[in-house]
Amino acid sequence: MIFVTGGAGFIGANFVLDWLVENDEPVVNIDKLTYAGNLESLASLQGDKRHIFVQGDIGDADLITRLLEKYQPRAVINFAAESHVDRSIHGPEAFVQTNVVGTFHLLEAVRAYWNELEGDSKADFRLLHVSTDEVYGSLAKDDPAFSETSRYEPNSPYSASKAASDHLVRSYHHTYGLPVLTTNCSNNYGPYHFPEKLIPLIIVNALAGKSLPIYGDGQQIRDWLYVKDHCSAIRRVLAAGTTGETYNIGGWNEKPNIDIVNTVCALLDELRPRTDNQSYTGQITFVTDRLGHDRRYAIDARKIERELGWKPAETFATGIRKTVQWYLDNHEWTANVQSGAYRDWMETNYQN
Ligand code: NAD
Ligand code: DAU
Repeated sequence: MIFVTGGAGFIGANFVLDWLVENDEPVVNIDKLTYAGNLESLASLQGDKRHIFVQGDIGDADLITRLLEKYQPRAVINFAAESHVDRSIHGPEAFVQTNVVGTFHLLEAVRAYWNELEGDSKADFRLLHVSTDEVYGSLAKDDPAFSETSRYEPNSPYSASKAASDHLVRSYHHTYGLPVLTTNCSNNYGPYHFPEKLIPLIIVNALAGKSLPIYGDGQQIRDWLYVKDHCSAIRRVLAAGTTGETYNIGGWNEKPNIDIVNTVCALLDELRPRTDNQSYTGQITFVTDRLGHDRRYAIDARKIERELGWKPAETFATGIRKTVQWYLDNHEWTANVQSGAYRDWMETNYQN
């Protein structure tokens, strides 16, 4: 039995789905179901006894304690977070509450549980904390990519709150010996990505005939990883990582935003041409830049490859094609997210 927090979000849902394909080990999925949590992403698990969903907050230490005692997991994987940089600029408080205070309460509950374990259960227990490359700040054009020893220089309320949570996790290992692992991953893309983030937003807006907003000059660089590769990396770190260590995860796919948008437009031109046969690139609009916009992220993923033998399976070309095709094939998922209908989904469809 493992616990996953935030398993109704983009990466968490992909992780739970893939986990239950790869393993028969049950998952207790604890998610607050904020605007970003969507049980419709887990629809294929309806009736699957290996998936136990609990609506709850990682900051609710009593709830987490009760669940730990009841299910006795061998590992906890913490995906739960407020994750959108733009939202953190407009309203940072929820980020401090969940990412910092919530992680603290989760750590306290897990520490108390782990303290009571004995023998192999205690020795084998792991808490894996899922973090981001944004904690390292912004790179100049010719700087080397972020390694595990790069200095933390978070620039947005989001990345600062993630950095704070990473530090708390680290301290629980150093001070109490809690067996923790931390992963710092680059930008993910793929199925079930909420259309407030760049790639799904561009796909959804393009198909709706809306403008495709590019912040500033569109030359900011991100390092893109297909979400299922992130999930396989987390499984690998959980299985073979050394506790107390951090692992950077990335796809060696640095690209300026404008290139990403042009690539998505080219795929849509091929797979779902506009009725007027013009390119979707005609919908691109340059808009006011994000406040404090980080210029470049890049992950040096050599440690996880060298020590754990992990490499991404997808190239950007294969991953982005799958992603665009997924959105074309799953229009209803997107429409429900946009209309808010997914909020009613649990009551009407979910039996667990
Ligand atoms: P997301 O916003 O899609 O999902 C977050 C999930 O957490 C949602 O289901 C939400 O309901 C849940 N949640 C929020 N607050 C909660 C709380 N207090 N208690 C329990 N559940 C809560 O985010 P995502 O993109 O799937 O990111 C997952 C994790 O991975 C985050 O920790 C994020 O920082 C990290 N990360 C994301 C990326 C990326 O590109 N998306 C890259 C690297 C790391
Ligand atoms: O690097 C990992 C991080 O990647 C994760 O920790 C975050 O949770 C995740 O949201 C993501 O953060 P970004 O800010 O990089 O992702 P976002 O999709 O919001 O933006 C990607 C780039 O595209 C960024 O440079 C801002 C730009 N952008 C974004 C949007 C939504 C635009 O130009 N236009 C847009 O409309």
